[in-house]
Amino acid sequence: MRQKLAAGNWKMNGTSAMLPELKALAEAYGTAGVEVLICPPAALLHRAAVVVSDSAVAVGGQDCHAAVSGAHTGDNSAEMLKDAGASAVILGHSERRTDHSERDAAVCAKAEAAMAVGLTAIVCLGESLQQREAGETLTVIGAQLQGSVPDGSTADNLVIAYEPIWAIGTGKVPTLEQIGEVHGFLRAQLVARFGDELGTGVRLLYGGSVKPGNAAEIFAVEDVDGALVGGASLKAADFAPIIAALE
Ligand code: G3P
Repeated sequence: MRQKLAAGNWKMNGTSAMLPELKALAEAYGTAGVEVLICPPAALLHRAAVVVSDSAVAVGGQDCHAAVSGAHTGDNSAEMLKDAGASAVILGHSERRTDHSERDAAVCAKAEAAMAVGLTAIVCLGESLQQREAGETLTVIGAQLQGSVPDGSTADNLVIAYEPIWAIGTGKVPTLEQIGEVHGFLRAQLVARFGDELGTGVRLLYGGSVKPGNAAEIFAVEDVDGALVGGASLKAADFAPIIAALE
């Protein structure tokens, strides 16, 4: 039985003024059966970890460098995230693939670095609108999965997030059939590559314009084990009903 996961990606939003919002969330849902993860900006990570320390809510990073340490100005290593209180890290988000030209091999190396220090790697995949309209979705997703996920993955240290680029922050959501098709494909690909234990044990999140109003129907789709939520994770009042829809 895969535990449901509600993960919030604050992206480049949030200063210490956001911490009361996180506290409210931790107080309200700290003992829920759903795993709740908030990924604030790196500058806020440690303070966020302190705020949720007495609750079941966890915090994570939004990226890490593949190297253990060294001359990489502006970057954070996986160990640094862990030291700041993270239990997981989002990797290969489409915004990083676009803004920082991250390719599958780089994402894979980052995931290996994260797993090596005991962080769960939340590896993001997703097609562009052009690729979807050209009928290339499964080919694109399959290649990203193959190239971005390390061989040393386990059911505990890997989460996959399917985020169609055209659904991120747009209010557009794929049909439930389209979500089901991609998640079923991902599940089959994982089983084929890693075998039953990992393939059926890894959690598959959907991300892209998940809101309180559409969460329940998305979560009812087979092989959707939770969500990676952007905008609607910034306010406890929006994120709470999404968590509740998973319970
Ligand atoms: O990583 C989450 C994300 O890309 C989805 O963002 O704002 O569409 O929920 P949003």
